Amino acid sequence: MSLNDHWMQRDLAVLWHPCTQMKDHEQLPLVPIKRGEGVWLEDFDGKRYLDAVSSWWVNVFGHANPRINQRIKDQVDQLEHVILAGFSHAPVVELSERLVKLTPAGLDRVFYADNGSSCIEVALKMSFHYWLNVGQPAKKRFVTLSNSYHGETVAAMSVGDVALFTDTYKALLLDTLKVPSPDCFHRPEGMGWEEHSRAMFAHMEQTLAEHHREVAAVIVEPLIQGAGGMRMYHPIYLKLLREACDRYGVHLIHDEIAVGFGRTGTMFACEQAGIRPDFLCLSKALTGGYLPLAACLTTDTVYQAFYDDYSTLRAFLHSHSYTGNPLACAAALATLDIFEQDDVIEANKQLSARMASATAHLADHPHVAEVRQTGMALAVEMVQDKASKTAYPWQERRGLKVFQHALSRGALLRPLGSVVYFLPPYVITPDEIDFLAEVASEGIDIATRDAVSVAVPRGARTEFRDPG
Ligand SMILES: Cc1ncc(COP(=O)(O)O)c(C=O)c1O
Repeated sequence: MSLNDHWMQRDLAVLWHPCTQMKDHEQLPLVPIKRGEGVWLEDFDGKRYLDAVSSWWVNVFGHANPRINQRIKDQVDQLEHVILAGFSHAPVVELSERLVKLTPAGLDRVFYADNGSSCIEVALKMSFHYWLNVGQPAKKRFVTLSNSYHGETVAAMSVGDVALFTDTYKALLLDTLKVPSPDCFHRPEGMGWEEHSRAMFAHMEQTLAEHHREVAAVIVEPLIQGAGGMRMYHPIYLKLLREACDRYGVHLIHDEIAVGFGRTGTMFACEQAGIRPDFLCLSKALTGGYLPLAACLTTDTVYQAFYDDYSTLRAFLHSHSYTGNPLACAAALATLDIFEQDDVIEANKQLSARMASATAHLADHPHVAEVRQTGMALAVEMVQDKASKTAYPWQERRGLKVFQHALSRGALLRPLGSVVYFLPPYVITPDEIDFLAEVASEGIDIATRDAVSVAVPRGARTEFRDPG
């Protein structure tokens, strides 16, 4: 028995994996990873895989990065963890100071959680609680975009709209207001991203005009709707949204958990719209992809609405055991050092141009509706009919074919349904980008060569797919 098989069997005897139909593993081998270095992961039999999805979008400077490793090693000998209520420590103070400096002016307070979904819970609760504290208890609903994703906890699911993840739990969810997404994949023929995103804003304007008295906040994934299939839109939408939120007295929550830290081409997506949200949620790449940590930044205005004598019961009594963990903060500090010292945002421009040129030929593929890109995220959408952009039936799991081919070639490409995407660590080389493009092209050829074979009943749900 190979070492991979050995670990796979021990794993499958006791684990229940995330976001997985476990029965799939009767056919689909699990890949046990022994070590990582840079963009490469290596299994127990010595086969290497290029991590094209940054291990669920968290890793920005490669696996086992020596600079991040060293900072964590230094920290672990000092202090591994301490309760953050009533106590503090140097890494969390230093990190908070740097995040306040790095993010748009006016985001002056940092509240920590320990994963993205919990960070969304913090922002939603804080916004609702703010309005309560300032005497506007009617403002308790949230406005969200269709096709959005904000995490897996119940309130985070409530503001999400990827049916695959939320439909089953509908009975548990909050009553939110849903507005059509500015997603440019569906723009009319001949219309540019800016014009489409601007036109789609009319729906948001109308919803806010009608409901602002009962709305606490609008929450968006700025520029890229990640789990919704790497769908993208123009920054003008965010600018218009900021203006409308100000006009209607509604908070704006930016969920930059997936797009923060350079993914869209700027350090934070909100910079491209020249705006400051009322809440900025960060996680994933915050620690370079090493340890779970999340930060919800907000304004002094919000902070002051909670600041009072204890007896007024206005305090934000929310906590997680690992809030502001020192090891995670140390990893985050090392990550910020690398951004600064290596001028990463500037250097990424060349990598992002290489991602575009290496995949440009796919736009002519008969089963590719679009190759789209924002900064260091690039997506290729496979469809059964190019002209009408008709999707493949999700039951055929075409993306899975790309995934399997990529594994055989030594790449971890994990499509979202029929959307093949690259979201690589920023330490990828131009040659490695070319390799990924080659593997993706072969995979797309294989996945699209057979005609549609699943008869989809009229009226059947079309939005389900493989989770990615
Ligand atoms: C935009 C966005 N928000 C929130 C989350 C949830 O983060 P976590 O998986 O750490 O709970 C994700 C995760 O993919 C995400 O992409």
